[in-house]
Amino acid sequence: MYCVRKVTDDLTWVGGNDRRLSLFEGVYDIPKGVSYNSYLLMDDKTVLFDTVDHSVDKVFFENIEHVLNGRDLDILIVQHMEPDHAATIQEVVRRYPNVRILCNKKTSDMMAQYFSFDVPAAVQNVKEGDIFETGHHSLTFVMAPMVHWPEVMVTYDLKDKILFSADAFGTFGAIDGAIYADEVDFFRDYLDEARRYYCNIVGKYGTQVTALLTKAAGLEIKMVCPLHGFVWRKDIGKFIEKYLAWATYTPEETGVVIAYASVYGNTANAAEILACRLREKGIKTVMFDVSVTPASYIVAAAFRYSHLIFAATTYNAGIFVKMEDLLHDLVAHNLQNRTIALVENGSWAPTSGKLMRDLLSELKNTTILDKTVTIRSSLKETEQMSILVDAVVDSMPKHAEPAAESKALDPNAMFKLSYGLFVLSAKDGEKDNGCIVNTVIQLTDTPKRVAFAVNKANLTHDMILKNGQFSISVLSQDVPFEMFQHFGFQSGRDTDKFEGWAFSDRSQNGTIYLTKFANAVISGKVVSTQDWDTHTLFIADVTEAKILSEIPSVTYAYYFENIKPKPAPQLGQQKGWICKICGYVYEGEELPADYVCPLCKHGPEDFEKIG
Ligand code: FEO
Repeated sequence: MYCVRKVTDDLTWVGGNDRRLSLFEGVYDIPKGVSYNSYLLMDDKTVLFDTVDHSVDKVFFENIEHVLNGRDLDILIVQHMEPDHAATIQEVVRRYPNVRILCNKKTSDMMAQYFSFDVPAAVQNVKEGDIFETGHHSLTFVMAPMVHWPEVMVTYDLKDKILFSADAFGTFGAIDGAIYADEVDFFRDYLDEARRYYCNIVGKYGTQVTALLTKAAGLEIKMVCPLHGFVWRKDIGKFIEKYLAWATYTPEETGVVIAYASVYGNTANAAEILACRLREKGIKTVMFDVSVTPASYIVAAAFRYSHLIFAATTYNAGIFVKMEDLLHDLVAHNLQNRTIALVENGSWAPTSGKLMRDLLSELKNTTILDKTVTIRSSLKETEQMSILVDAVVDSMPKHAEPAAESKALDPNAMFKLSYGLFVLSAKDGEKDNGCIVNTVIQLTDTPKRVAFAVNKANLTHDMILKNGQFSISVLSQDVPFEMFQHFGFQSGRDTDKFEGWAFSDRSQNGTIYLTKFANAVISGKVVSTQDWDTHTLFIADVTEAKILSEIPSVTYAYYFENIKPKPAPQLGQQKGWICKICGYVYEGEELPADYVCPLCKHGPEDFEKIG
């Protein structure tokens, strides 16, 4: 018997729930099951958005038949080829032989790998920005590679402002009759499973998720229809905010995850003592025994909290196996921006501390506290623990006294500085990269010398530090906002920002620069650097400089007045705090004192209250 729910007047959920599967993808336990969502649009053309896993195909085909009510299926849009959504494509084609499949080229290539029907005959390839008319609706396509496979795209209904988001915004857990997130207390009852789904399924691809969110920020979205979990029609901004934190590896909370591996309870005892001492200092703690808690839960907690303590016994001269598996999992999921402390145990040759340190050193922007606590069999004194606890607490962000700070420092004063905006570019081997900076100044005239500061998180920073060569394209007032998105809101570590870039040339030092939207280029060689915490200050001799146009330079003030789109309420309720730099909205009464904008990385001083 069919089981469907209406989403809008002409859109119906035709998916299914599986509460019997114990391991999703054969790895992740799903005690609350999982939903496989599919949506059927009944317009002049009938359009099915993705299919489902084999486990729910019986009800799925009954659902389609019921909603079609005698009509043929005209279009199947395939956004993602992973079999939990694509397994029944061949059966759809068999039952509805006139169906046209809309998908991108990568998807149709994969489809031919999975199925034996005549894929080229059934498929119509689409590209980013193509618009497909279904009658009353216009659908457009946005490529979302690696969210979660390379072929993924999402679809936007221009009429009803619905984003069909593929795996993005999904959650583990069957939907128990409730199709909408606002039919349940999502943030109380489902957020943990949404986080566990995100971190374990697409956590590795934060850059790509951020790129999709940046594209989505330009759309007016009234509803999000993912392939797992609930449809979103309220509080979308609140969920997007969580996604931004996860995608940028920004801790949601200051607190400590203590994960321990203990064979006879002595390492567990040390972990318990650590947790007590931290709690006594007012620090939030969560604890996991890695032998009994599946890694996916600990990975999710590691994405949630700022600090991680790993305590492991030495086993076969290595790390206890369950802990080793967990640490490999964290590295594989690309966790970043954390502070880590280590505790090792060993009765005759403790080695797990060094081995854990070596393994975790692959995590980007992560500090591993210098001192590893070493236990010989069992804890005999607490001094080492106290030192570790103090080091963890000291590494946590300190909250400034607001009253004292506001008297002495008005952050808006910084906006009165009249600096410009630039694309700073560099080269490493065959790889070009560039980022937006606002810190270039001329230092001396004879010789011509400049200074600029670059955030250490930027790939361009690392390239200049390594090779010492760069070019600065001085941006001119004809530069569109999209240029700032392109060079400022994504990382060159995963994207080739200059691929297919038509307006560029090379300086004599080999670095690339812009020949459009820039009125001058200044190239040089670094002669000195200074470490300034989050940034490196580079001092450089100018080796080449030329004028490219007579269009005036962009200043920060000009950017805010004329280029940056004015914030418009788009994504759910727009009360809270808006980032004056990039327009990102934090929805909440109070902006945390240690908040960092997940898009542009500016702090609370660059936010102002709205709503
Ligand atoms: Fe739900 Fe990537 O498939």
